[in-house]
Amino acid sequence: MILGIGCDLLKVSRIERIVRRQGLNGKTLDRFATRILHPVEREQFVALRRSDDIAGTVRLLSGSWCCKEAVFKSLEPGRQAKFRFNRWYKSNDEYGRPTICGDDVNNTDRFLVSVSHDGDMIMSTVLRQGIQQ
Ligand SMILES: CC(C)(COP(=O)(O)OP(=O)(O)OC[C@H]1O[C@@H](n2cnc3c(N)ncnc32)[C@H](O)[C@@H]1OP(=O)(O)O)[C@@H](O)C(=O)NCCC(=O)NCCS
Repeated sequence: MILGIGCDLLKVSRIERIVRRQGLNGKTLDRFATRILHPVEREQFVALRRSDDIAGTVRLLSGSWCCKEAVFKSLEPGRQAKFRFNRWYKSNDEYGRPTICGDDVNNTDRFLVSVSHDGDMIMSTVLRQGIQQ
C-alpha cells in the first residue's frame, strides 16, 4: 500500500555556487560530499573530481540532495528522526529510470521516484509503498 509521498524542488545554482566557491578539491566541499553522499555516490564524486567535471559534480550533488529530501518527506516520523543523507542513494537503471537504494531501505520498502530538470531547477517526487506495520 502507499505509505508516504515526498517531493523536493531545488535551485541547482545553490549547489553550483558551493562547488565553484570551494573548488572540486576543497576540504569543505569534501566534507559536504561526505555528509550528503552514500559511499556508492562518493565513488562517482571522486571520479568526477578526478576528471575535473564541475557540471557532472553539480548534477550528482543536486540530484542526490533533491531525491533524499523527497525520500525524507515520504518517511514516518520515527525514521525521519534517524535519517542520514549518506545512508541513501539515487541510482538509475539501464533505461535511465531513477531508483532509491541504501542501507536504511527495509525489506518491505518500495520507493517510486521521478526526477525532472529544467534550467536552474531540479525536482523530485517519491512515493513510498510497503506494508503497514
Ligand atoms: C523538513 C524539510 C524536509 C523541509 O524541506 P525544505 O527544503 O526546507 O523546504 P521545502 O519547501 O522543500 O518543504 C517545506 C514543506 O515540507 C513539508 N514538511 C515539513 N516537515 C516535514 C516532515 N517532517 N515530513 C514531511 N514533510 C514535511 C511541509 O509541507 C512544508 O511546507 P508547509 O510548511 O508549507 O506545509 C527539511 O528542512 C529537513 O528537515 N530535511 C531533513 C533532512 C536533513 O537532515 N537535511 C539536512 C542535510 S544533511
